[in-house]
Amino acid sequence: MSIPHPAPLSGADYSAAELLPEGDVALVLDQRRLPSEEVYVEVRTGDAMVDAIRDMLVRGTPAIGVAAAYGVVLAAHRARSDDEVRAVAARIAAARPTAVNLAWAVHRMLAVFERHAGAPRAERSALLADEARALHREDVAACRRMGELGAARIPDGSTILTHCNAGALATGGYGTALGVVRAAYARSRDVRVLACETRPYLQGARLTAWELAKDGIPVELVTDGMTGHFFSRGAIDAVVVGADRIARNGDVANKIGTYGHACLARLHGVPFYVAAPWSTVDLGCPSGLAIPIEERASDEVTRFGGKLVAPEGVRARHPAFDVTRAGYVTALFTERGIADPPGPDELERLARSPAPQA
Ligand code: MRU
Repeated sequence: MSIPHPAPLSGADYSAAELLPEGDVALVLDQRRLPSEEVYVEVRTGDAMVDAIRDMLVRGTPAIGVAAAYGVVLAAHRARSDDEVRAVAARIAAARPTAVNLAWAVHRMLAVFERHAGAPRAERSALLADEARALHREDVAACRRMGELGAARIPDGSTILTHCNAGALATGGYGTALGVVRAAYARSRDVRVLACETRPYLQGARLTAWELAKDGIPVELVTDGMTGHFFSRGAIDAVVVGADRIARNGDVANKIGTYGHACLARLHGVPFYVAAPWSTVDLGCPSGLAIPIEERASDEVTRFGGKLVAPEGVRARHPAFDVTRAGYVTALFTERGIADPPGPDELERLARSPAPQA
């Protein structure tokens, strides 16, 4: 089913999250059901958005930032008091701890909410809906800009390794790492992608492969453990991944498994690029050690498609993210420019440069 929305801001015929024109219902694509089914769920309350984010219907840091903003709109629409809105907003911000865009988006929305404290309810709701849609548009524009900047670093004929899904499904639209791939492909039609399947949620197999195949961009799947083999054969020319939080010193938290690819890239002299909107840079976080790492349920690892694949009673570890030290990152692509490499000075420089207009 294509998206039941008259004018999705994603710029595609699918979208991770949208707000219906009336501003009282959000649509979320249930990514757990992709690629077999494309089903949109109507989200009507802020707490329903908390569940949608925690249960991974919508995932990917910038996309959950957009969904969080829409969640605050829904909360304000239905709440009986300002305190209720603040309480729901706090639950949205805490739904997933590593993805910094969640708290960032909630903070931005609450600033609008507080600024218009005396306004009539309908007017305040409309202002919040405008702000959330602006945030969504800015995210898509940021992806397009970093895509262009990043693509200039990808030589024609490259095979690009990516991990997890940092595409249109993980953002307001277009994608961060996959935005770079899309822009590089649009230029030369001469890049291809190796997508890591990304255990245990299979974002690479289910989502990255789905998006790229839809666009006709050549993609092949590899299991996470195969990348060393392909690096050692010289079959990977660049790694491009997204990020869930970037610390002030340039350390990058991304989907579990990313750090291993970064080490292999360093060992084999392959550039390792990160693409992320400026909203993912957390200058208040001194280093990767201070980034909270989300631990998810053990049975997301011990079960596969609902079926137990480990002995009964054995528990699994499940950190959802790891941290790649700044020194392993060749360059960071953002809409404000490239941090090359992404150390504190470069991030300070970008922090001072003006945000491009959406
Ligand atoms: O657990 P997920 O699917 O939300 O993790 C997503 C990732 O780690 C992505 O690589 C990251 O959010 C960048 S998305 C543009």
